Amino acid sequence: MKIGLFYGSDTGRTTAVAEQIKENLESRLSIDMFDVVDFKKEDLVKYDYLIIGLSTWYDGELQSDWDNNFNEFCEIDFSGKTVALFGLGDQIVYCEYFIDGVGILGEKILDSGGSLIGKWSTDGYLHTDSRAELEEGEFCGLAIDEDTQEELTEERIDAWCNQIINEFTSLQLTNSKTN
Ligand SMILES: Cc1cc2nc3c(=O)[nH]c(=O)nc-3n(C[C@H](O)[C@H](O)[C@H](O)COP(=O)(O)O)c2cc1C
Repeated sequence: MKIGLFYGSDTGRTTAVAEQIKENLESRLSIDMFDVVDFKKEDLVKYDYLIIGLSTWYDGELQSDWDNNFNEFCEIDFSGKTVALFGLGDQIVYCEYFIDGVGILGEKILDSGGSLIGKWSTDGYLHTDSRAELEEGEFCGLAIDEDTQEELTEERIDAWCNQIINEFTSLQLTNSKTN
């Protein structure tokens, strides 16, 4: 199974998390990594299995490279594609907008017929609101907070990587049986 990992980062934290995710998964899955500063729709549409990461900025806005490429992103047909999202944010200072960018991309992917895996419990976070909480008690992707819960990052990445490997693999088995 080949996975396309697309990420965008303003100050390098999402890049570091993307690299940790790649390192964690690559003995078990094949991962191609893309920084969306050079986003091309044609790169993304090649993959049926995707990991997408971003930080949130300025009261609930997409990280700048995702923001610059958002119109092109919205043109993608996600039907048949499965996506695991992860996002970085600050749950204390930006408690009303915690990882909103994950919700913005998640909504678009679902509207365009895609499926999301890698959903993550909101237990242990102190935010008051988040657009990524598409269902109560659950973010539509992994939430990482390097500003206020840095000490939990490694264990969260590890648990989430194990979760998405299981989810990707069982989906692939189902797809290969039905095709
Ligand atoms: C000016 C500013 C605005 C921010 N706005 C938000 C926000 O609305 N929601 C959120 O969850 N985090 C917000 N953050 C926190 C960043 O998302 C967080 O620091 C993240 O780790 C940055 O990742 P990056 O270096 O990959 O861009 C903001 C940070 C700054 C400095």
